Amino acid sequence: MSCLSLSGPIVIAGGSGFVGLSLAEHLARRGASVVLLSRHAPKVIGPWRHVPWDARNVGDWCRELDGAAGLVNLTGRSVDCIKTPDHQDEILRSRVESTRVLGRACREVAAPPPVWVQMSTAHIYGDPPEIVCDEDSPAGCGLAPFVAKAWEEEFQTARLPSQRPVILRTSFVLGRDRGAGASALTKLTRIVRLGLGGRVGSGTQGVSWIHEADLNRLIERGLTDPSMRGAYIASAPDPVSQREFARELRRALRIPIGLPAAEWMVRLGAPLLLRTDPELALCGRYVVSRRLREENFEFTFPRLREAFAELFSKGTKRPSPVLSSHTGPTGEFRHSAGPSCEDRPHNGMAERVLSTDSKWLD
Ligand SMILES: NC(=O)c1ccc[n+]([C@@H]2O[C@H](COP(=O)([O-])OP(=O)(O)OC[C@H]3O[C@@H](n4cnc5c(N)ncnc54)[C@H](OP(=O)(O)O)[C@@H]3O)[C@@H](O)[C@H]2O)c1
Repeated sequence: MSCLSLSGPIVIAGGSGFVGLSLAEHLARRGASVVLLSRHAPKVIGPWRHVPWDARNVGDWCRELDGAAGLVNLTGRSVDCIKTPDHQDEILRSRVESTRVLGRACREVAAPPPVWVQMSTAHIYGDPPEIVCDEDSPAGCGLAPFVAKAWEEEFQTARLPSQRPVILRTSFVLGRDRGAGASALTKLTRIVRLGLGGRVGSGTQGVSWIHEADLNRLIERGLTDPSMRGAYIASAPDPVSQREFARELRRALRIPIGLPAAEWMVRLGAPLLLRTDPELALCGRYVVSRRLREENFEFTFPRLREAFAELFSKGTKRPSPVLSSHTGPTGEFRHSAGPSCEDRPHNGMAERVLSTDSKWLD
């Protein structure tokens, strides 16, 4: 694999979370120097430098943008929560205000990054039950499309006219926990292990997804390929129904039974037991990128089964989180190889039951 030849560091705003640490590790492995901007230091140490910001006001952190080869903005409060008015407000403001202040900061420095890769969400298309959306599809209705549109509009205003813009409307990212969580996959894995990972509601709602390795490669391409410009859907070409997603996850985890959950159970249980929004499980969307297909982006993990196999297989080497001292700038990159126990198939009986697909219940 050739090394990235970049003229300066890559600044990842909102880089201390699940996607940010995965990307930072990827870019560093490819030879880039990486700076993370976030309010709190990442919980683990790694091959990056952490610089604090408040995501709202121009400050000393601006200097990091001077001479940077690229800017990636991932900042945003998690949507995995009960949608109280306060949470809705924070979901919107954390995205719009951080984007705005990054634009202001780019105007303060002599040599701003020539390319800005901006996170967005595939939820911009809403929750159409059946149709498959691509980049030409209209935005949907509801909080998530509203936030996504505001986020993208702010980005178009904030970026410098000279900066190459790349927007990634990203679906559910499947990846490992590097010490900053692993998105909703951690929660889903726990639910499946309790035998509760079956059909949710009708089970026909779409689950669009992307393996973290492909998202990292796509962001790298956004940073380095001058022909990439504008909005792309960042999602594997194999969106599946919730029912199939659950079946494949059970298969990967070797859990033979997945009890179904009726809609009323999810509406009651999600806020009470999981402190989250039931709509995240009951609604979904099917998205596929026309532009990535036309521009010949090759997915390493185009199919869900292979993506799960890579994430949960026994032999997969994965980094273990190394706790940081929370002192800001971090030390050297430390990697400890080997799968975590959490992700290993662990049930001999289950393995025996699982010899054919037809034995997977839902
Ligand atoms: N994970 C997915 O499946 C997925 C899918 C589509 C889109 N996305 C988007 O990708 C981005 C990164 O996702 P992720 O999974 O890495 O999220 P994450 O783990 O929750 O990380 C979020 C990042 O944003 C910062 N942040 C959180 N709340 C903030 C606030 N109120 N004000 C300013 N900064 C705040 C966090 O650092 P501090 O709190 O220390 O500042 C952290 O660096 C998010 O915008 C998310 O919406 C994620």
